Amino acid sequence: MFPKKTVRDIDVRRKRVLVRVDYNVPLDEKGRVLDKTRIVESLPTINYLMEQECPIVLMSHLGRPGGRPDRKFSLRPVAGALGGLLNRKVQFVDDCIGIKVDQFARAVMPSEVLLLENLRFYEEEEKNDPLFSRALASLGRVFINDAFGSVHRAHASTVGVTQFLPSVAGFLLEREIRVLSELLLKPQRPYFAILGGAKVGDKLAVVRNLLERVDNLMIGGAMAFTFLKAQGYDVGKSLVDDRRVTEVKEILEKYSKKIHLPLDAMAAPSKERARESQQIVFEKEKTIGDFQCLDLGEKTIAAWSEFIRKSKPKTLFWNGPLGMFEAKEFSRGTFEIAKVLGEVARNDGNVIVGGGDSIAALAELGLTREMTHISTGGGASLEYLEGKTLPGIAALQDAGNKPRKKL
Ligand code: 3PG
Repeated sequence: MFPKKTVRDIDVRRKRVLVRVDYNVPLDEKGRVLDKTRIVESLPTINYLMEQECPIVLMSHLGRPGGRPDRKFSLRPVAGALGGLLNRKVQFVDDCIGIKVDQFARAVMPSEVLLLENLRFYEEEEKNDPLFSRALASLGRVFINDAFGSVHRAHASTVGVTQFLPSVAGFLLEREIRVLSELLLKPQRPYFAILGGAKVGDKLAVVRNLLERVDNLMIGGAMAFTFLKAQGYDVGKSLVDDRRVTEVKEILEKYSKKIHLPLDAMAAPSKERARESQQIVFEKEKTIGDFQCLDLGEKTIAAWSEFIRKSKPKTLFWNGPLGMFEAKEFSRGTFEIAKVLGEVARNDGNVIVGGGDSIAALAELGLTREMTHISTGGGASLEYLEGKTLPGIAALQDAGNKPRKKL
């Protein structure tokens, strides 16, 4: 059961609602939205609020502008993209607090939508500043958090505002928690997980937690090199978190049977010198000099693909790219394993994917719709699996058996 009240549990009819969405979407140099997944997934809540004739004020962050305005991180293009999906004009105001914003918010008519400028143009947002929270809260009568991707952040727009307004969850937030808890906490077996990405330090807690639950865990991406180094392989100039090697050794000893590491890699002197890249097979006593490992090698791709196909996992969770995916030359490992995930999904496996790069790889292969669940939260889904309290959810009103009441 979802433990919090949702927008369905309270009377929002014709009330001005303040909605936290996660429109932290990738933009190209011209400011065009490259992936609309997060915007599309916010539509059920927005449509419901339109049916309820609410004036709707949306707020979000985009990127990490560091507490000051930076046009590169403006949400203006997102207002256009949202308007296109809703088939109606979405107003935009170039600030998120202050007199001008108050006027814009008050002028929003029932079923109309206003999007505020990036919350992180103020450092008070990430500091969860009470005055900033109150200024945001003054823009609505009810607060709805539908930003699953941001619930692991205790910021003004996710936690601070809940001090000032009745606060409930939107449909996306509710669905993410329902699906992740059902599929991943009570999984059908065999249960596989594939983790990639760079920051091993951030992910060790989730690695431990997953190892308690899964039957097999494949570790790729840059985080694999700290594991390989801990096993005594030379990984050259590959990204390694030396402070974590001892902890990683312990994990390897405890769970050796479940962990699968790359057998080989594509390595180059640097990502810019991709033309000099070569396959490196990890062998004890072998040194790879100044080379940096940047993608899975052929041997690993073949072995992992075959192992997954043979084991026919009923549940498979994937988060994080398996190589330096943003460089075309080093995206093969991520793409090839993504294709195998497509096969698992077609064979009735539950495939759950989180994290921007993994989702982008699936989109590029046209596999998005085949997946059981695409999570809009990268960090948030990992912290949920880690068993951590998510502050943006904890701050919402608890679900009770009380009848629907007027606020
Ligand atoms: C995400 O993309 O994971 C969320 O939008 C959170 O962004 P953040 O890591 O910058 O807080």
